[in-house]
Amino acid sequence: MIDKAIERLIDTKYLLVITGAGISAESGIPTFRGNDGLWQNYRAEDLATPWAFERNPEVVWRWYDWRRGIIGRAELNPGHLAIKQLEGLYDDFFLITQNVDGLHGRTGIKNMVEIHGNLWRARCTKDGRTSMLMDVPLKSIPPACECGNILRPDVVWFGESIPSEWLQKSYDVIDMCDTLIVAGTSGVVYPVASFPQSVKERGGCVIEINIEPTSISSIADISLFGKSGDLLPMLVKGIRERRV
Ligand code: OAD
Repeated sequence: MIDKAIERLIDTKYLLVITGAGISAESGIPTFRGNDGLWQNYRAEDLATPWAFERNPEVVWRWYDWRRGIIGRAELNPGHLAIKQLEGLYDDFFLITQNVDGLHGRTGIKNMVEIHGNLWRARCTKDGRTSMLMDVPLKSIPPACECGNILRPDVVWFGESIPSEWLQKSYDVIDMCDTLIVAGTSGVVYPVASFPQSVKERGGCVIEINIEPTSISSIADISLFGKSGDLLPMLVKGIRERRV
């Protein structure tokens, strides 16, 4: 299967990669679903909705601050680095990540949208201004904007829409790509969960990388089961060795 994936990638002109929490699992960052997933121990309704924030911004910020602590100490893993290398191997490349951890950004990758936002960025609840908030732990919770109003994490919560600019960019690259690698996502959160199907409908090839079958596996042309930190570097190596 890995050889088939490498062959396809050698013939690919425009490569799109979609990632989810699994890509950062080998950096020690908890995923959302599965046995040790965050949603086993926390209720999304209490922490990741605009209503939860309205009710109790302090609780929501404390949860994000705890996650910022884990992520702040985490190191990039070979999966993140391989995706950065893939960007260098294609003239046309784009990454859509659902992760808010900012780890892809740390690799220096340029062609990317963090479609669910970034937990190192905060947004004013009044005027919408954004700013990077790098302190861990935060000095005051909830943090305040220069204008005096409360800041919120600049992430997309359940019940909120993805900013139209990010969504439009995603649809544009779905139209243009000929191969999609979808790695480390359970594929259950929309709209991203529908992107692999959209790529297929436009004649593109879907290569899935995951430690186990997911809802995407049935439509994937090639499924590679294993850790993204092992498989992605193997793909990079294979492309480099066999490309003429
Ligand atoms: P999930 O936690 O739903 O899925 C993580 C996926 O990664 C699972 O399919 C795992 O099998 C897989 N996985 C775990 N370790 C892996 C490894 N080392 N290599 C490859 N795969 C591995 O996370 P997401 O699909 O990212 O949204 O979740 C999507 C969205 O749901 C998140 O962005 C977040 C969450 O609620 C919001 O907060 C809006």
